[in-house]
Amino acid sequence: MQAAHTSFTPTLRVLRVDASARGEGSVSRQLADLMLDELAGRVHGVSVARRDVASGLPFVDADWVAANLTEPDARNVAQRQVLAQSDDLVAELMAADVLVIATPIYNFSVPASLKAWIDQVARARLTFRYTEYGPEGLLSGKKAYVLVATGGTEVGSAIDFATPWLKFVLSFLGITDVEVIAADRGMLRGDAARQQASERITGVLDRDWPALAEAV
Ligand SMILES: Cc1cc2nc3c(=O)[nH]c(=O)nc-3n(C[C@H](O)[C@H](O)[C@H](O)COP(=O)(O)O)c2cc1C
Repeated sequence: MQAAHTSFTPTLRVLRVDASARGEGSVSRQLADLMLDELAGRVHGVSVARRDVASGLPFVDADWVAANLTEPDARNVAQRQVLAQSDDLVAELMAADVLVIATPIYNFSVPASLKAWIDQVARARLTFRYTEYGPEGLLSGKKAYVLVATGGTEVGSAIDFATPWLKFVLSFLGITDVEVIAADRGMLRGDAARQQASERITGVLDRDWPALAEAV
């Protein structure tokens, strides 16, 4: 279900997407909590929609593909139903000014649940389109923060298949302003990893908040 943004004052709309299978004890969730607290402390009028994908989203299947390939006006009732959840997820993403994705690295990439979310929001005609010059992302004007926690994989290294892919696929959808903040190698660095990421969050928001406030 889509979270409601209810406010009568101008609002900076944030969509928070969580992907860690863990609740309590999840480093990526703690970083997202911190980021939203710090953002609310700097920008007046922040509304947050939360999308927790950890328990899973449907995979794209044959019916989904066929429905998506059918012109919107020509879709039958069943096809509309097949795409209904994807439509909601797209609407939620479109409504956001700021996207905060909090994710672990699982097996050197993103959790399957986060991949499933991307598969549901990557919609030809809605979030990207093909032009004579190639693909064009339709979600322009958004800022994304990717908060990533890892055990042993160094973010940005050759074995990090999560953050380069996330940055690429977000830019494919038109979200080109992406900041990755990593609490990486937590198994090796212990709490220093989270501490360093927390400090970066503070620094990044000190830098970004005036521009974000202007968007309200
Ligand atoms: C199924 C699974 C796979 C994992 N694979 C990796 C991996 O490939 N590389 C890595 O550095 N850490 C890996 N980890 C460790 C997590 O990335 C690390 O514990 C991280 O803190 C989890 O995020 P969270 O604290 O938000 O739950 C894995 C953890 C799980 C549960």
